[in-house]
Amino acid sequence: MEIFNEKKHLPVEESENKRREFLRKGILFGTLTSVATLGLVTSCKDEDEDNISPVEDLMREHGVLNRVMLIYDACKQHLVNGEQFSPDTLKNSAIIIRDFIEAYHEKLEEKFLFPRFAKAGQMLELVQVLFIQHSAGRKITEQIIQLGNLKSLTDPIDNPKLVKLLSDFNTMYRPHESREDTILFPALKKIISKNEYFALGEDFEKKEHELFGADGFEMMVEKVSVIEKQLGISDLSKFTPQ
Ligand SMILES: [Fe+2]
Ligand SMILES: [Fe+2]
Repeated sequence: MEIFNEKKHLPVEESENKRREFLRKGILFGTLTSVATLGLVTSCKDEDEDNISPVEDLMREHGVLNRVMLIYDACKQHLVNGEQFSPDTLKNSAIIIRDFIEAYHEKLEEKFLFPRFAKAGQMLELVQVLFIQHSAGRKITEQIIQLGNLKSLTDPIDNPKLVKLLSDFNTMYRPHESREDTILFPALKKIISKNEYFALGEDFEKKEHELFGADGFEMMVEKVSVIEKQLGISDLSKFTPQ
């Protein structure tokens, strides 16, 4: 007597065979997907380590700049509210900006990007403003480093001075980096050859390793992360509206 599967109306044996076939294909597909994913992960890893593009390099440095600007926002808030916080958080953040952004990232832009746009006769006005802003930023940073001490935080003259410096810095650098990310960097590929573009990436990495060691970027991110913890702004989920 033939026994039927009630749901599918198939003989049990046939139904069982289909189920096994389905599972076999599923396992095979899963294995292939895993192998493919593994291959993809491996190839991306190699690419990341050896061939980081110049724009990716510059943009992840902007990520460090952005995180320091969030630190500046937090410090500014403490200064305005007269709340206590460690002056080292402010001073060390400004030192990261001086060493990693101004003396490295911006030097790359000034040495390798701006002259190429000048030579191509493109984005001249934008490049000029960006260059002037680098110089203005350095002056602000130097003053933040000087005033990043316990006395200045509560001093009636230095406190508002620091508030203004932090405010000026973020007010200038947010539009500055957003123009670079959306206008200048995307245009770079259009004015230089593919070979020159990727050679630039190698030059950037070489310079970064020379100045900060093989893990220069990771080291800066770690430094920023420690300061964020000290200021209580390291938990990303706290930025989500309730
Ligand atoms: Fe810049
Ligand atoms: Fe930049």
